[in-house]
Amino acid sequence: MKIQRKPASKKKLIVANWKMNPELLGDAKKILQKIKKGITRAKHSDVVFCPPALFLGDLRGKSVSLKTGKVSYGVQNITTEVQGAHTGEISAEMAKSAGVRYAIVGHSERRALGEDDLLIAKKVAAALRADITPILCIGELKRDETGESLQILYSQLKASLGLVAVNNISKVVIAYEPVYAIGAAQAVTPHHVHERNIFIKKVLTELFGKDNAFKVKILYGGSADETNAKALVGDGAVDGLLLGRASVNPETFITIVKEIDQL
Ligand code: PGA
Repeated sequence: MKIQRKPASKKKLIVANWKMNPELLGDAKKILQKIKKGITRAKHSDVVFCPPALFLGDLRGKSVSLKTGKVSYGVQNITTEVQGAHTGEISAEMAKSAGVRYAIVGHSERRALGEDDLLIAKKVAAALRADITPILCIGELKRDETGESLQILYSQLKASLGLVAVNNISKVVIAYEPVYAIGAAQAVTPHHVHERNIFIKKVLTELFGKDNAFKVKILYGGSADETNAKALVGDGAVDGLLLGRASVNPETFITIVKEIDQL
């Protein structure tokens, strides 16, 4: 009988959100090329690159293979519609047909432009409709010790997952990203990540039942780098990271993938 060292569900997920970086396609190719060389030995991690959508076609051609992990591509946003008169938008179906497997939905930088939970719920549903994995970002705006932030997480989860059928929740990835830690000088502590991770699991259990809830991958995002990644994932007991700045720095990103892969 073939013995698997780690079940597929325990694989870590590392998502590179390049945001609107780098400026030039040539640089994007170089970054990917360098990262590609450095992560080939990853065995227990899947890596998702979310470059600017316009660069996807060129970058996807340069396939990356890991030892047993998977490399996939994602978009940083999608619209709720399938096609039609929606200037500037990209649908989940289009992303799918271009080979994309993931879509970041509800990132705080999109929420800051006016996206609310109702719209985000429709985007989550649009991704699932097209068989794309939504990476749903949630997180409180301010650091608080009063428990108000838990209320915010609760309502974001309840509303943003409002259109997801019980048997589909395992296809959603949740990225917990406290907004004050994004693009900041410091991440939150692993202890904080652990607490929020448990809370998110509790809410998912209430909404979707324990068996389904525990299949959902929960990531942390916000100033994760090579100095804290291992502790955030290990002690925070999350399934991986959503990385911004660290994901466009090849050396940093490679180090993080290697460290997480050993956990
Ligand atoms: P950061 O961004 O890693 O640069 O803080 C994280 C994010 O926005 O997802």
